[in-house]
Amino acid sequence: MKINVADLPQGKTIPHNILRFLLLVLTLTFICFTLIPLCVYQTPASSSSSYPSHSHRKVAYESKPLRLIRKKCDISSGEWIPQTQGPYYTNMTCKHIHDQQNCMLHGRPDTGYLYWRWKPGDCELPRFDARQFLDIVRGKSMAFVGDSVARNQMQSLLCMLSTTVGEPVDVSENSWDGKFKRWLFTDYNFTIATFWSPQLVKAKDTWPKETTGLMHLYVDEPDEAWITKIDKFDYVIISAGQWFWRPLLFYEHGKVVGCHICFDKKMKDLTMYYGYRRAFRTAFKAISKRKEFKGVVFLRTFSTGHFEDGTWKTGGTCPRTKPFKSSEKRLKEFDLEFYLTQMEEYRAAERKARKRGLKLRLLDTTQATLLRPDGHPGPYGHFPQENRIVHDCVHWCLPGPIDTWNEFLLQMLKTDGERSFEERL
Ligand SMILES: *[C@@H]1O[C@H](CO)[C@@H](O)[C@H](O)[C@H]1NC(C)=O
Ligand SMILES: *[C@@H]1O[C@H](CO)[C@@H](O)[C@H](O)[C@H]1NC(C)=O
Repeated sequence: MKINVADLPQGKTIPHNILRFLLLVLTLTFICFTLIPLCVYQTPASSSSSYPSHSHRKVAYESKPLRLIRKKCDISSGEWIPQTQGPYYTNMTCKHIHDQQNCMLHGRPDTGYLYWRWKPGDCELPRFDARQFLDIVRGKSMAFVGDSVARNQMQSLLCMLSTTVGEPVDVSENSWDGKFKRWLFTDYNFTIATFWSPQLVKAKDTWPKETTGLMHLYVDEPDEAWITKIDKFDYVIISAGQWFWRPLLFYEHGKVVGCHICFDKKMKDLTMYYGYRRAFRTAFKAISKRKEFKGVVFLRTFSTGHFEDGTWKTGGTCPRTKPFKSSEKRLKEFDLEFYLTQMEEYRAAERKARKRGLKLRLLDTTQATLLRPDGHPGPYGHFPQENRIVHDCVHWCLPGPIDTWNEFLLQMLKTDGERSFEERL
């Protein structure tokens, strides 16, 4: 049953009082039709939160928004609690795992890190349901824009979907280096794409590489690699992180304005937070300016690394095999600064976007991520005999805690669908 007042033919020419009356009748009819069957099917054995599935599912789904108005839940804060059910896929069932995140293949000995689930403070985060996800995104397209952590999440999603519904087709235009890939789930006509843009704005690596590894960042110009390609996408998930740690030379209006990790004493040290802030501001602004773009934009928040006894450059490791409790670990220092910076830019952009009729959403995975020092490849991002010393405490093993980000994503797609349904009433 679809009721959409805006869809009534010549809605504007109907006098106001009649329109109001019609609306009332339609709303009442709607309530009668959806609530009554619900009460009838409500047996003592089925609690209010678990509906008898299959035949009555449609009814339950349609009436959900009415209940949700009362119960809003913040999925971003909670605890990891043990669960006996294992991961959604393994290195054997999914072929989309990036080699450097294939911890099982590379002999990670412990498996305890696979048996935890995220429990938000005041509700449940349902397990991922691939068919439900695909039903929602049927005929749509989703882009992941960012660095290798964004790709990490994309590959997790490919695994979570393909192991249930079968392999997507690789429809990439130009995929020689794996940085711009496109996959199509044909049965659902759903496209997933990944756009490599670690700093979201225009960047130039100095070549031949200077010993400093200095990168030129044009903080007021969006990276063409993605901004010119997203118009047709229904969902765009943007993120950025560790690439702002490196030495950066900042440009505004094409002119050098300062740097991060200055090798030139005369240059102004604007810090990496300046670059991070400006990159998000520019990205949001550029999206808003795309007249053709009608999609939903998600900001996936900062993913914290977990180096102990050093950094990735100075031999840091991440040897833990269990999550932290929320009381044991707080966001601090760089992590906190990155998180707050992007939140500020997000809030400012969200207000503006709303006026333009654009939806910005916060995929706030930072807290859940912070509590998982055990989820990184560490030394298992490659075979031990390769004898590399660097431990990877930034990316995430697949399967692993990053799968939860996609549980968040599905939950948000569901509640957003319900919200717009609500708005139409
Ligand atoms: C998967 O991991 C196991 C070890 O857990 C390993 O023996 C096997 O070769 C791996 N298979 C693939 C296809 O990566
Ligand atoms: C598949 O989805 C795209 C949008 O993502 C749409 O343009 C196209 O018409 C759809 N194709 C079919 C066969 O439904």
